[in-house]
Amino acid sequence: MAKMIWQTPRMTPVALPTLNPFGRRRTGVDVQSEIDGVPIETLAERYGSPLYVTSEQRLRANIRRIRQAFTAHCPNVIHGWSYKTNYNGAVCSILHQEGSWAEVVSRFEYEKARALGVPAEQIIFNGPNKPRAILERAIAEGALIHVDHGDELELIESIAAERRERVPLALRLNFKTGYSEPWSRFGFNLESGAARAAISRVKASRHLRIDGLHCHIGTFILDPRAYAAAVTTLCLLAREIESDGRRLRYIDIGGGLPSGNALQGIYLPPEQSTPDLEEYAEAICKAFLEGTAYRVEHGEARPALVFESGRAVIDDAQSLITSVVGRKETADGRPAAILDAGLNALFTALWYDHPVRLASPARGEPRDTVLYGPLCMNIDVVRHSVQLPPLAVGDRLVIAPVGAYNSTQSMQFIEYRPATVLIHGDREVSLIRAAEDLATVCGPERLPAHLARRGPAAVACGPLRRVVGG
Ligand SMILES: Cc1ncc(COP(=O)(O)O)c(C=O)c1O
Repeated sequence: MAKMIWQTPRMTPVALPTLNPFGRRRTGVDVQSEIDGVPIETLAERYGSPLYVTSEQRLRANIRRIRQAFTAHCPNVIHGWSYKTNYNGAVCSILHQEGSWAEVVSRFEYEKARALGVPAEQIIFNGPNKPRAILERAIAEGALIHVDHGDELELIESIAAERRERVPLALRLNFKTGYSEPWSRFGFNLESGAARAAISRVKASRHLRIDGLHCHIGTFILDPRAYAAAVTTLCLLAREIESDGRRLRYIDIGGGLPSGNALQGIYLPPEQSTPDLEEYAEAICKAFLEGTAYRVEHGEARPALVFESGRAVIDDAQSLITSVVGRKETADGRPAAILDAGLNALFTALWYDHPVRLASPARGEPRDTVLYGPLCMNIDVVRHSVQLPPLAVGDRLVIAPVGAYNSTQSMQFIEYRPATVLIHGDREVSLIRAAEDLATVCGPERLPAHLARRGPAAVACGPLRRVVGG
């Protein structure tokens, strides 16, 4: 081995063309005075604050871009719109117009999709709780049933036996990809042998038929290789299932593509930490084409590739307008503002650092500010630390992206839930969900006669309102 000669380490100063190598603290605060050409102030005055504002143009552009990213590689791709992400009827209808199927996880979501006119054959029915009555309906109507656990399998088999037919289904599986934290509570586990046992059980049944394999490896997956690994696993298993000549109709890889939001705990901004959608589509489709090549070698068509993206489709298509209702100083001397929307309307503030913009130009230097919500609850914090100029009561803020998992998880806790509008066409605005009021919240309540201060035996909200008012 050649003898290395030790050299004294040298430090070479780097000459920068600027005096301050750390750059300068950013003083400009983002201002956003309109959404799709409609002034924030007009929206807030007309529909109230807080207000969810949805951009139809952005939503359509998002789904088209995602679909295009997949179809550039694989022709037979189906998108199932994950209702729980945002099941506003207008949002779902836009996506169905764009060709997305419905992915639902409960009786409510199934009924909603049917009520919106989605044919049952285009409804993917996931979720761990499908009571018998809704399963019977979904099976009779021909929905794609994805089985979550053994008891459900038994229930489906008994419904199928009653119907004296073979019911098609898909099995939801969970397994390690090696690149993301596995979600193991839904579906049948592969490593433990539960998945293969379920497959054998379906194959042995006179009343069941396996049509598809499904997985949802998690959400906000930051590494496309996790999908490639998942798709490869599903394709290998599909091939194993098909060794007796049966054919699966589809492989469903679930959702989980990230949005452009800023996850707490990730130091880099989303533009730097989140891979492009095209990278995911390429990784998924490459693994799928390789994994299903055996079909083509046998002169057969590949199964369809289904994906169920939620947040990547809608998150940046919705903003929340909120207003400052009060100011204070925190115990450690930082400025704080109380907003009219908090965790009740912005549940994802628990895990995102949402960008916050001012609707009108800033007055003064930004400072490290705390944004509280309106709830009488200590954890109701919209941002623990954000650079904002001095705020005044009545100032409007725009928080975005908020389209995923906020309106659907919003709470009637302490406050009414806000209205939602859709901006479409040429700056047209339509109300797509009215703001709640006492009737909305108390409508389902019944006041027994002995508790009513006056009025008939069982009273609903009208008389209740009288009681409250009187
Ligand atoms: C089965 C299933 N599919 C799709 C989704 C949508 O996920 P995402 O919004 O991360 O794309 C979810 C969300 O949890 C899910 O559970």
